[in-house]
Parts: sequence; structure tokens; C-alpha cells
Amino acid sequence: MESSTGPTWGRCWRTGRRSLLTVDIRLATEPDLPGIFFIYDREVREGVATFDTEVKTAAERQQWFADHRLPRHPLIVALEADEIVGWGSLSPWSARCAYIRTAENSVYVRAGCQGRGIGKALLADLLERGRAAGLGVIAARIVEGNPASIRLHEAFGFETVGVMRRVGEKFGRILDVRIMQRRMDGPAN
Ligand SMILES: CC(C)(COP(=O)(O)OP(=O)(O)OC[C@H]1O[C@@H](n2cnc3c(N)ncnc32)[C@H](O)[C@@H]1OP(=O)(O)O)[C@@H](O)C(=O)NCCC(=O)NCCS
Repeated sequence: MESSTGPTWGRCWRTGRRSLLTVDIRLATEPDLPGIFFIYDREVREGVATFDTEVKTAAERQQWFADHRLPRHPLIVALEADEIVGWGSLSPWSARCAYIRTAENSVYVRAGCQGRGIGKALLADLLERGRAAGLGVIAARIVEGNPASIRLHEAFGFETVGVMRRVGEKFGRILDVRIMQRRMDGPAN
């Protein structure tokens, strides 16, 4: 099994001490789906980070897993003590073929494990895989009012290219969406 990230330094908010965070990142396998959707479904039901409003059926989950085809569209998980504490993916930005050089990234960290560097470990791994796959741009759609996600992406050189006003509606709230992108093919890369 491919596994890329070893120990990284994270800040443990529960103890207030800076502590060694051992997070393993590897490609997801089908048996990881319950762990992935345990994290995601909470956001579907209770949050606005995703604009999905219905949890996926078992068949839809399997199709979603199968749709993540290497090398451009990896699905990865972060594990601490063999438990899935986060996941990330690169997906097609659009089904239209001329967008093949662009992928959309997603990163989700389990509630209670956030703010400890796991999101950064996942996004670093996705960028490395995207670069190796020859992607030109990785982009994110981030609901306005998600400072953790904005800061996470800024930390990796993503820039805001625009804000789509009032495009989403969830729990009776009208929502703006910020588009952030990271060029993978620039001179600094
Ligand atoms: C957004 C998310 C993926 C970030 O992952 P994380 O593990 O919590 O974040 P990290 O600990 O790796 O921190 C990443 C950066 O964000 C900052 N950050 C973390 N939580 C923050 C918060 N609540 N407010 C502001 N900044 C925050 C960190 O300080 C760090 O920045 P730094 O390197 O400049 O210090 C995670 O909080 C999450 O899963 N949220 C719910 C789902 C979601 O919003 N997904 C993104 C959809 S676009």
C-alpha cells in the first residue's frame, strides 16, 4: 500500500501543547468508504462546506469512489492510529475535455481533529500528486465564512480569483462561494 506522509508537527489544542502529530496519508481503498462518509455526511447534514444536501446511497458512494481515477484524480485518506481522521480528493473541474488540466480539490477533517495540521498534510499530499500528474491548475470552491478553509488554501499559495455571489442556498441561507486557485505550472513551481 502506498503511504506518503510520515510524522509532521501539529499543535494539539486539547492539551495546549505543541505535539508530534503522526498522520499517515495513503490512497483510499473501497473499505475506507464508511470512514470517509462518516466525516462527509456530517457536513452534508449539518454544515455548509458542501452544497450536497442528501447523503449518498451505497451505490452512489461506490460510483464516486470509482470516478476517482489515477493519476489526475486521487482520493486519499489521513490515518491516526489506523483510524480515518480526514480525506481529500482531486476531481474533474468540469466534464468538458478542455478543462482536463484543471482539478478541484476537496479536504475534510473529522470534527474534533480539526486545527491540528491534518488538513495541511492532506492538501500538501494532493498538490504533490497533482503536480506529478501534470495538472496545470488546482482550484477550490469555498463557501464564504469558512476561515479555516481559506487559511488552509492560502498557506499553499492559492489565490482568490473571484467570489460568486448568492449562488448557493442551504438551511434557508443564501451563500456566496469563493473560488481559489493554485497554478501548478508557473515559474515558481
Ligand atoms: C477546512 C479544514 C479542511 C482545515 O483542516 P484542519 O486540519 O482543520 O486545518 P489545519 O490544522 O491543517 O490548519 C490549516 C490552516 O488553517 C488555520 N486554521 C485552522 N482552523 C482555523 C479556524 N477555525 N479559523 C482560522 N484559521 C484556522 C490554521 O492555523 C492553518 O493556518 P497556518 O498554517 O497559517 O497556521 C477542516 O477544518 C475541515 O474539515 N472543515 C470542515 C469541512 C471543510 O470546510 N472543508 C473544506 C471545504 S472547501
